[in-house]
Amino acid sequence: MVELAFSILASDFAHLADEVGTAERGGGTIIHVDVMDGHFVPNITFGPPMVKALRPVTKLPLDCHLMIEDPDTFIQAFAEAGADMVSVHQEVCRHLNRSLQLIVDHGMLAGVVINPATPVEAIVEVLPMVHHVLVMSVNPGFGGQRFLPRSVERIRHLARLREEMGLNFRIEVDGGIAHDTVASVVEAGADMLVAGSAIFQKGRTEANAREFLKVARAAAGEGHPVATGQETGATAGL
Ligand code: DX5
Ligand code: ZN
Repeated sequence: MVELAFSILASDFAHLADEVGTAERGGGTIIHVDVMDGHFVPNITFGPPMVKALRPVTKLPLDCHLMIEDPDTFIQAFAEAGADMVSVHQEVCRHLNRSLQLIVDHGMLAGVVINPATPVEAIVEVLPMVHHVLVMSVNPGFGGQRFLPRSVERIRHLARLREEMGLNFRIEVDGGIAHDTVASVVEAGADMLVAGSAIFQKGRTEANAREFLKVARAAAGEGHPVATGQETGATAGL
């Protein structure tokens, strides 16, 4: 099943709980939390306190994408804050197997992330131990960047490996995913779709999420979303 993991990086932080609620009403089922440290990526965002603040306001899983150096030292803090999924970059983990095991040992779902310049082969050895692989389709650090088209072939490659190795990890894609790019990544095999700027937009967030999922589900051959009865609310004036 394809899912929308909406990235709160693009939301209005002053009204975060409301923003999350609106994206959820539009059909988003995963909250993507972009953690940046100003070292691994040239930007700073938020950390475990943000996860802790979000935990009581939603039942949706919190998917923490760690764009930080030395992630091992923060795994426990994210677990205690209430994170459900944690992904770490292959590029920063000197002992990738150990970092992923640490996430699992703390009761969370482990993911590995690869930057656009990292060969897919670099993570083959850890594929059996991950819940998901996150394929970056932009260079990490900022929302609102343009999708890198080679990502489609990289996702296809990963989906082939999954098949050959008899595994069932999920494939997440992140960066520049919008109504015009989502079909190509879904057709290639991605099913956890991160989107920020394509979703959060004052007054349009719920409708954006709904339309995004409609395109994604059609590309996945999943047909139309089941009506929830909530469509008559915020989207009635469209
Ligand atoms: C970029 C982040 C992304 C970002 C995506 O480093 O990892 O999750 O929020 O933003 P959009 O959807 O705007 O490309
Ligand atoms: Zn991200």
